[in-house]
Amino acid sequence: MADIEQGNQTSITEFILLGFEELVDLQIFLFLLFLVIYIVTVAGNILIVVLIVADQHLHTPMYLFLGNLSCLETCYTSTILPRMLASFLTGDRTISFSGCIAQFYFFGFLVTVECYLLSAMSYDRYLAICKPLNYAAIMNNAICSQLAAGSWLAGFLVSIIIIFLMSQLTFCGPSIIDHFFCDFTPIIKLSCSDTHVMELVTSMLTFITTLPPFLLTLATYVYIISTILRIPSTNGKQKAFSTCSSHLIVVTVFYGAIMIVYMLSASGMDLMMTVLYSVVPPTMNPVIYSLRNKEIKAALRRLNVWTLFTKNNMFVFLP
Ligand SMILES: *[C@@H]1O[C@H](CO)[C@@H](O)[C@H](O)[C@H]1NC(C)=O
Repeated sequence: MADIEQGNQTSITEFILLGFEELVDLQIFLFLLFLVIYIVTVAGNILIVVLIVADQHLHTPMYLFLGNLSCLETCYTSTILPRMLASFLTGDRTISFSGCIAQFYFFGFLVTVECYLLSAMSYDRYLAICKPLNYAAIMNNAICSQLAAGSWLAGFLVSIIIIFLMSQLTFCGPSIIDHFFCDFTPIIKLSCSDTHVMELVTSMLTFITTLPPFLLTLATYVYIISTILRIPSTNGKQKAFSTCSSHLIVVTVFYGAIMIVYMLSASGMDLMMTVLYSVVPPTMNPVIYSLRNKEIKAALRRLNVWTLFTKNNMFVFLP
């Protein structure tokens, strides 16, 4: 690539993340709002991980995947929100070049892992609902661990390639990113190298790696829903649906948010809309599972810190 020949001319050592600059009067309000979102997200997801690790009843594939997902969501919000909170508080909007690349790396890594984990979870629900007799034979501990490990590995490999390509780019100014975190498109726009090849490779890579898990998730839900509709009794229908409804909501929120943003980005990205897909889904996950899932609620009651949380008004976890 021609970019490499230009050598290490990077004259920019830091970027400026504009973020919500136009909302200058609201900085304190935004700080408090996102601080609450951050605390609720991290506390909720860590609580789910603790419940799943500590409670023997929850050592089944569905909950082990959920534990992985909650770990992931904790890391995910932590790549975006603390940096954002700091800039609301201090007004300092600069981020170093390597900090920016690291932020994008973790963001891309975790989003890819999430795609794969969600599809592993929907495959698990597909087996439980459509192939109940073979479930235990197919979804054993080894397969479950392999699917989880495979998800993390896939995310790691995809994002390492993209980061490698990105590290070949030269940035010679301007350095202003009109966004609240270092996302792919805003960084690429600032490069003075020819980014066509890079953009093409990245689009293809994203397409090849995220389309299969998405299609798998979609296909399993088509099967699951048509199987549930064929169950004769209303009671049986409800019972089958309740085992996959939490996951279906989480999947819908995740892909729904990405699709809304994707469609809007064609007509110019709205910052508030980006918040939708980068900040909201991780928050929803524990709320959905704690509100809807009987076994999680039962595990919460078995765990003694339950009383501690109700005393502290963690209202989201109330049954
Ligand atoms: C993630 O999944 C693996 C494999 O199933 C499991 O052993 C591990 O406990 C899970 N992690 C969490 C935090 O649930």
